[in-house]
Amino acid sequence: MINAAVLGACGRMGSLIVEDITCSADMQLVAAFDIGNLGKDAGEFAHVGNLGIQISDVKDLESVLKKTQADVLIDFTAAVATAINAPIAARCGVNLIIGTTGLTTEQRAVIDEAIRENQVSAVISPNYSVGVNVFFKIIKEAAKYLGDYDIEIIEAHHNQKKDAPSGTALRAADVISETLRGKEYVYGREGIAPRGKEIGIHAVRAGDITGDHTVLFAGNSERIEIRHMAHSRQIFVKGAVRAAEWVCAQKPGIYSMDDVLGL
Ligand SMILES: NC(=O)c1ccc[n+]([C@@H]2O[C@H](COP(=O)([O-])OP(=O)(O)OC[C@H]3O[C@@H](n4cnc5c(N)ncnc54)[C@H](O)[C@@H]3O)[C@@H](O)[C@H]2O)c1
Repeated sequence: MINAAVLGACGRMGSLIVEDITCSADMQLVAAFDIGNLGKDAGEFAHVGNLGIQISDVKDLESVLKKTQADVLIDFTAAVATAINAPIAARCGVNLIIGTTGLTTEQRAVIDEAIRENQVSAVISPNYSVGVNVFFKIIKEAAKYLGDYDIEIIEAHHNQKKDAPSGTALRAADVISETLRGKEYVYGREGIAPRGKEIGIHAVRAGDITGDHTVLFAGNSERIEIRHMAHSRQIFVKGAVRAAEWVCAQKPGIYSMDDVLGL
């Protein structure tokens, strides 16, 4: 049985992950952390009734992870929080599933170093959905043939999302850029903004959109649009819980969803 802990357990993603873990035959929730609602039962936020697991203060992360013998910490919080807490969990020998997006290069370097130094296993992915990871494969293939077309990435998310553009849009841009041996990125355009050979990246924030990503390849007289639309956060939840089960059986290292899904 895998002992799982959830960081950000009262959030939109964290509470759904708590709920999903309660349905798992191979994983049990042993700890839940957040910055508010301390002492309340984690099951309350997941609408699954009392689980007997109180929300712990993130300040007690180290002591609670050790006391509960957590095998894996699933983190969907905020970049500043992940940059502090992932290294703490790694030092405790706890494997990591990091879903938080918007990590800066410096924050990511700190996290990567802690994972390597402490010889734990981690999956770090801006998007845990199976479909999006297949979408990355498809756009890579398209980019091989359409490198001279104008390429734009348009993403849309709910009005509560903090970071922009989305981690998934940035990953899509990186996939295309790596395939085409380096592309400049231009974020939105205003004023006099003639198009060059860049990848244009655009973020829409509106209503309760779960997450849409479109990659547009446009040439003269034709265009291809490759689009992924998330209908529910369950796709990220299922992928993250699947990754948590998988990561506990891996050698120390940093993995992606490609590794988890065998893509
Ligand atoms: N990788 C993916 O597949 C995927 C999918 C959806 C969302 N996300 C990302 O996950 C993150 C969370 O998204 P959300 O929609 O659940 O947000 P949310 O705001 O609903 O939840 C975040 C939770 O983290 C808590 N939190 C904030 N700072 C904290 C800290 N220092 N310590 C502990 N807890 C802290 C908040 O109190 C809140 O309960 C975002 O970065 C989002 O972009 C990733």
